[in-house]
Amino acid sequence: MDRFKVYVTRMIPQDGIDLLRRVADVEINPEDRPLSRNELLRNIKNADGVVGLLTDRIDGEFLDAAANLKGYANYAVGFDNIDVAEATRRGIPVSNTPGVLTDATAECAWALIFSTARRVVETDKAMRSGTWSGWGPLQFIGADIKGKTLGIVGAGRIGTEVALMSRGFGMKVIYTSSSGRRNGVLDSELHAELVSFDQLLAQSDFISIHCPLTPDTKHMFDASAFSHMKKTAYLINTSRGPVIKENDLVTALRNGDIAGAGLDVYENEPSMAPGLAGLDNVVLLPHIGSATQNSRNGMATLAARNLIAMLKGQKPETPLNPELYD
Ligand code: DGY
Repeated sequence: MDRFKVYVTRMIPQDGIDLLRRVADVEINPEDRPLSRNELLRNIKNADGVVGLLTDRIDGEFLDAAANLKGYANYAVGFDNIDVAEATRRGIPVSNTPGVLTDATAECAWALIFSTARRVVETDKAMRSGTWSGWGPLQFIGADIKGKTLGIVGAGRIGTEVALMSRGFGMKVIYTSSSGRRNGVLDSELHAELVSFDQLLAQSDFISIHCPLTPDTKHMFDASAFSHMKKTAYLINTSRGPVIKENDLVTALRNGDIAGAGLDVYENEPSMAPGLAGLDNVVLLPHIGSATQNSRNGMATLAARNLIAMLKGQKPETPLNPELYD
């Protein structure tokens, strides 16, 4: 049997490549950077399967360019970069990588909760710059975490894990649900409360965003949302940048409408809204939510197993259009 041709749009952990090489000739973008649109469309021309990234747009144009495509595996759980409806219409299966990055991303959200509340980056800067003049009773006062209210926007896998990790801090957990369905784990383990978005804004001391980016969630956090949050509240985002209207966030942080923010994702990555980087009450990470060895290996091997299944005409483990296999 002829070997499949697979294109990988940027180097991923070797374990995934090794799996792919068992069944396919694998070509990999040799440079550690996202491909330009033209490069991408050119390089996928003869591919039977593609492993791509959240920075690659998988739409009608992409599918036109890849005439032999039998499957596309996203190396990410978020799939707002894929026009799933268009892929389904053309009968092309697509997949993502849920589950394997849940713990890493939840831990990253907690890193942002701690570092915003206790001003870790700002105070680290003071140490390094030599401006700290010694202990002072009124210096660098932060916020308590224990016993506070944690608001989870989008209590899916990652949101649920972030909430469960709050157990050591005796927090009250409230959450929203776009489907209106209760989260059984959060209800039974934490006696969490399902609330409306407005209630979540008004009651939370820390809000952690875990919803997918969709037309409904785009700019969900804007000036109006900030005006309904507590002035002492912190906003944490490890999902997708455009859920927050970043210019409005800069204004809210500058005016003290909210106490602070911890961001791992941005509206126009890799850029940031003007003024954001100059603020002390924001902690800024470069989209590293899933960046642990285990998690990235898990993403690579899951994406590879998914693609191999799709190439063989089998249902992948984590399909985005499972109806193609009904
Ligand atoms: C994802 O998987 O969606 C993250 O943003 C990158 O790991």
